[in-house]
Amino acid sequence: MTGPGNSDVNDSVAFEIRTREGKPVLIRAVRPEHRDALIDMVADCSSADLRLRFFSTSNVAAADLLSRVFSDRSDTETLLAVEPEAVPGRGVVYGIAQLVRIPGTDTAEFAIMVRSSAKDHGFGYELMRALLTEARRRRFKHVFGEVLQENVRMLQMARELGFAVRRSDMGAGVVRVDIALEGAAEAPKSE
Ligand SMILES: CC(C)(COP(=O)(O)OP(=O)(O)OC[C@H]1O[C@@H](n2cnc3c(N)ncnc32)[C@H](O)[C@@H]1OP(=O)(O)O)[C@@H](O)C(=O)NCCC(=O)NCCS
Repeated sequence: MTGPGNSDVNDSVAFEIRTREGKPVLIRAVRPEHRDALIDMVADCSSADLRLRFFSTSNVAAADLLSRVFSDRSDTETLLAVEPEAVPGRGVVYGIAQLVRIPGTDTAEFAIMVRSSAKDHGFGYELMRALLTEARRRRFKHVFGEVLQENVRMLQMARELGFAVRRSDMGAGVVRVDIALEGAAEAPKSE
């Protein structure tokens, strides 16, 4: 049990990765100890980045994300954080990614956010790889995300990771990226 929102994630889930600059960081399941660091991370995100993530610059959506960390959605939700510290929540959180099961299916929806001041160091890419590894471990067959069409960076990263870009039911301006995990390229090995 790793705490609310993550009890299906093994406590030992941790990926030791290096940034593009060679800096070691950890990607691990979000725990209650991350609360303050996550609030700080959201406060450090620009309106433009909040809109790319939540399709709204309102703080309501971000507050909802934070509340999930402490609500019991363990059967459906996985949350991963990337941080430099060995002790969970002691330092900054550079980014967070979530995987939410579509009820009654083997499909999960992902979402990801890197704090604005920590972009371009490879955290987003490594979080996505860790998320796909976790999705495989949980035996999901499909993973998808809804992305604003203007979010060129995210779309390029998704393509590099093997996602296909399709039309979304969410309407104009939004596309769906999805990947079938069977036969997909291996994500990085976990501990
Ligand atoms: C989109 C977002 C998640 C990207 O995260 P990031 O940490 O800034 O991005 P990264 O540094 O990992 O870089 C991604 C880029 O590197 C590539 N990349 C990074 N590490 C790599 C590696 N080890 N090997 C190969 N490619 C790599 C990616 O394809 C992409 O290319 P670019 O630098 O040429 O643009 C981040 O900018 C963000 O949170 N944006 C706001 C919220 C959002 O858009 N969320 C997505 C909607 S769900």
